[in-house]
Amino acid sequence: MSCIDKIDKSRVPKHVAIIMDGNGRWAAKRGNKRTYGHQQGVESVRSVIRAAAEVEVSFLTLYAFSTENWNRPKYEVDALMTLMVNVIKSEAADLNSNNVRLVVIGDKNSLPKRVRSEVDRIVDNLKDNTGLTVVMALSYSSHWEIINAVKSIASDVKKEKIGVEDISRELFDSYLSTAKIPDPELMIRTSGEARLSNFLLWQMAYTELSFSPTLWPDFREEDFFQAICDYQSRERRFGMTSEQIQKPNLK
Ligand code: IPE
Ligand code: IPE
Ligand code: MG
Repeated sequence: MSCIDKIDKSRVPKHVAIIMDGNGRWAAKRGNKRTYGHQQGVESVRSVIRAAAEVEVSFLTLYAFSTENWNRPKYEVDALMTLMVNVIKSEAADLNSNNVRLVVIGDKNSLPKRVRSEVDRIVDNLKDNTGLTVVMALSYSSHWEIINAVKSIASDVKKEKIGVEDISRELFDSYLSTAKIPDPELMIRTSGEARLSNFLLWQMAYTELSFSPTLWPDFREEDFFQAICDYQSRERRFGMTSEQIQKPNLK
């Protein structure tokens, strides 16, 4: 039985975030260059977009390239940037016909111009779609994002647009690149690594974490559904007791 049959449609997470990890190791295991792993990972991206749309997840955030990834060998960074442009071009029509909207978070100014202009074009083409929102984290890191938010808040305080006493969790949220996006309820990281690697640190304060041993190029719909089933078997307590969660009317 596929795990999809066990999913409770009324409790599907609104937002799932994924750290797509393990492309290099997948390629090395086959005696290939790391860049081959990145190319093969594209099929997994297609799979999770299909899977998320099928179970009606509203937001799917994919960590595609971190701020730290700029420190990789130049040939790999160049290959990733070229792959990004090619994938945007080849997938645009399909994404559009599936009513997918695309949002990009990250330091867009650090991207090569050819990537930036393709990104802007596809985001604009898909902006009126009303189905799944794919949030692509490109040249993203939480440290970059949080420092930016702090700078903007400080500048608005200086200009007296806001007062120090206005600074709240909600206000801080509104200065992040994820301002209009709810926090993820579930985060999946593939490849067996159990760390966050500078990904959505503020937004994941109460996210359920799921670590899969599968290397990203092997990850498919069924693995995604499995992570949702596992998520649905957990009790999210938000600091309360199990009894309070199970019997909300108990004083
Ligand atoms: C994830 O796979 C893709 C990116 C970070 C761009 P890796 O390239 O990190 O693959 P491993 O972790 O070295 O196997
Ligand atoms: C995290 O993977 C970034 C992306 C998946 C884009 P890395 O492979 O770069 O993370 P570390 O270096 O293992 O923490
Ligand atoms: Mg990695």
